Amino acid sequence: RQAQIGVTGLAVMGRNLARNFARHGHTVAVHNRTAAKTRDLVATFGHEGDFVAAETAEEFVAALERPRRLVVMVKAGAPTDAVIDEFAPLLEPGDMIVDGGNAHYLDTRRREAALRERGLHFVGCGISGGEEGALNGPSIMPGGSPESYQALGPLLESIAARVDGEPCCAHIGPDGAGHFVKMVHNGIEYADMQLIAESYDLLRKVAGYEPAHIAEIFRKWNTGRLDSYLIEITAEVLAHRDADTGRPFVDIVADRAEQKGTGRWTVQTALDLGVPVSGISEAVFARAISGHADLRAASASLPGPQLPELHPDDAARFADSVEQALYASKIVAYAQGWHLMQAGSAEYGWDLDLGTMATIWRGGCIIRARFLNRIREAYHRGGEAPVTLLADATFTEALRDAQVGWRHVVSQATALGVPAPGFSAALAYYDALRSDRLPASLVQGQRDFFGAHTYQRVDREGSFHTLWGDDRTERPA
Ligand code: 6PG
Repeated sequence: RQAQIGVTGLAVMGRNLARNFARHGHTVAVHNRTAAKTRDLVATFGHEGDFVAAETAEEFVAALERPRRLVVMVKAGAPTDAVIDEFAPLLEPGDMIVDGGNAHYLDTRRREAALRERGLHFVGCGISGGEEGALNGPSIMPGGSPESYQALGPLLESIAARVDGEPCCAHIGPDGAGHFVKMVHNGIEYADMQLIAESYDLLRKVAGYEPAHIAEIFRKWNTGRLDSYLIEITAEVLAHRDADTGRPFVDIVADRAEQKGTGRWTVQTALDLGVPVSGISEAVFARAISGHADLRAASASLPGPQLPELHPDDAARFADSVEQALYASKIVAYAQGWHLMQAGSAEYGWDLDLGTMATIWRGGCIIRARFLNRIREAYHRGGEAPVTLLADATFTEALRDAQVGWRHVVSQATALGVPAPGFSAALAYYDALRSDRLPASLVQGQRDFFGAHTYQRVDREGSFHTLWGDDRTERPA
């Protein structure tokens, strides 16, 4: 019998994805570099569906119906190239290699171009939702050619999460578009996690609440506009106690956040495209600061203010303000992420539908949230798409209501010496965008002074230079 789809690379993500396909009635060819994993999968989960175990690359390719659909689930980077090099010579024109890893979109562009030359489709496919999502319904972001989506879309849509009957999977755009938006998804994920972590820190240090109490607050928030997977799991983590010591789990975990790279890529890409993603970059840098044990030890005796003891009523009011700061900062982080997707689309000619990402991120993925419905509406309202999400009526109104609490939290954090880089950066971005005049005019003056870099005027067309070292008259440049 011939398999509709094949999965090579049977670590936990690959294994769960293969099981997900099989559970949806597809015949799935499975392959792994070391065959023991393939045998183990079939022995343990064979009863869940129709698996064809392939020991060699040749057997694997022969097991697939044409055009072949071959999903690669290996570690991003050199292993992906190794698998492509192994399989591409065995494939025939029209066949598809789908890379489901967290690849860099520029690698995906390179691989897609090289395989296209050989008549093969290469689909860089973002997959979000972790192990659980891969098994029960992830959010899926395939790039690559529209033809490849015709052959692949129905299969991917069948295993994706669904929200209101719609699959959390759509063709994103050509070549690296799928991996690009997955990268931005992860950048937003970093920002969201950092903002939630700052909320916890402020509730603990300023309001004086214990983790179990804060878990309750997050549970309550999760019934409102902040309803999301990340808030839900935050409550779980905060409520958890260490079995050995009985202490809150969050107090026995080393406070050094690690990262595998997608957040960093988001910021690097944003720098290249000139897109301000300060919420995401602060999140990446906050992880970096946390990891610099030497720097932190050397700075431990620097002076700071005393934390007060708040009256319970004031603490409760402060907690409400934190909810407002979190919601407002979250809007900013998402607006920045969407701006980056808009810029990527323009740079690479992808013609991304910006509402689609909100639609397919409502379920399955790590940043799934009720909130995404609002972003979807903002892009699907008809008429001109908003230049920034901040200027969409729904968000403008939310920001208007939240800004007093947001400012209060940022000023309290500053006064009391609790770092809140995510909240502060988001607020600075908001204030910069709404400012009538920015001091960038002074920066232009400085640049012209020391480097004759020229400037433009508000009242006339053209570029100008002032003779700073001479009589300070102005010349057209
Ligand atoms: C997802 C996650 C997933 C992975 C992150 C973790 O969408 O399912 O984003 O891709 O868990 O890459 O990233 P860090 O290790 O960099 O935090």
